[in-house]
Amino acid sequence: MLDTLLKKRDLPTLRPRGEMLDILHREIYGYVRATWDTPVFTVKENIVPNFCAGKATLNKVTVTCRTAGREFSFPFYETLIYDGKHHPFFVHINFRDSVPDRYMPTEELVDNGFSVLSFCHNDVTRDNNDFTDGLAGILYNGSRRPDDAGKIAMWSWAASRIMDHAETRGDMLDLDCATVCGHSRLGKAALLAAADDERFAYAYSNDSGCSGAALSRGKSGENIKDICSRFPYWFCENYYKYAEHEDELPCDQHFLLAAIAPRRVLIGSAADDAWADPPSEFLSALAASPVFSRGLECPDCLPKAGDFLPRGDIGYHLRAGRHYFSREDWQRLIEFIRIHGGVK
Ligand code: GCU
Repeated sequence: MLDTLLKKRDLPTLRPRGEMLDILHREIYGYVRATWDTPVFTVKENIVPNFCAGKATLNKVTVTCRTAGREFSFPFYETLIYDGKHHPFFVHINFRDSVPDRYMPTEELVDNGFSVLSFCHNDVTRDNNDFTDGLAGILYNGSRRPDDAGKIAMWSWAASRIMDHAETRGDMLDLDCATVCGHSRLGKAALLAAADDERFAYAYSNDSGCSGAALSRGKSGENIKDICSRFPYWFCENYYKYAEHEDELPCDQHFLLAAIAPRRVLIGSAADDAWADPPSEFLSALAASPVFSRGLECPDCLPKAGDFLPRGDIGYHLRAGRHYFSREDWQRLIEFIRIHGGVK
């Protein structure tokens, strides 16, 4: 049955990773093109004393990036467990800068042995059509080429700068167990960050839907026309021509998932999130599955609410309920990483 459903989507065949990344950047997300100096990190330590009952320190870090004599900075927050061990960690692309946050139960993550480095997408460049602030302001002097980065590629680029910083924390962080994650539009950005940056051993997108994990061909709910008319600035301009012409795309979203292999990726969906379209998210994981060493555990039919398929290097879970980044989603992610040996 699943084979028949996939066949109906008539997907382009997967290609070598480099080619898939090129197509994804050229046609959908755009390229961040500047050549950068090594970023500079300024750390303000322990901004909330006794954070997480004294198990972790919360630091505010400012990242300063320079290119061609221009510079911009953005802040992020690092919650580091300090007990002399190396801890797995999340790079969380978040909607807000609060720690903890309703999308990020920091104490629970720390109790589960994870450190967390999180930033607010708006601090990198604002989530709107204005390309003059933050990173966008540095990249563009009022003009963008059709394959220049939209905002999703910029948020994803910022996740890699956090990873640059993580590499200076090798005494506390397990650099072999970095997970980039995000919800919804920021789940789209998390997948792109993992596809581009091989330092991320794991990726997690929650309810990322259209132009994220979900296949565009045959998708219900939101489609390319919808997303490009409401959020054109998330993408490069080349993407707009595929509105109502999904079949002409030289890729589909399974390229994005496949470009993460041989590393691991978990796709989270919510059963009542028809706009994101869980079956299209699941079928995308299934279509990407052959390039992973251990493919998706394949059920006989489409998953139902509560199903969790964690054993492949590409995993999937379908939570009951609506579009939201819930504690249950985080728990699934932690279980996935544990099952794959990421928590020592
Ligand atoms: C809108 C958009 C989705 C996106 C979501 C979000 O609903 O249509 O594509 O995922 O916002 O980011 O919350």
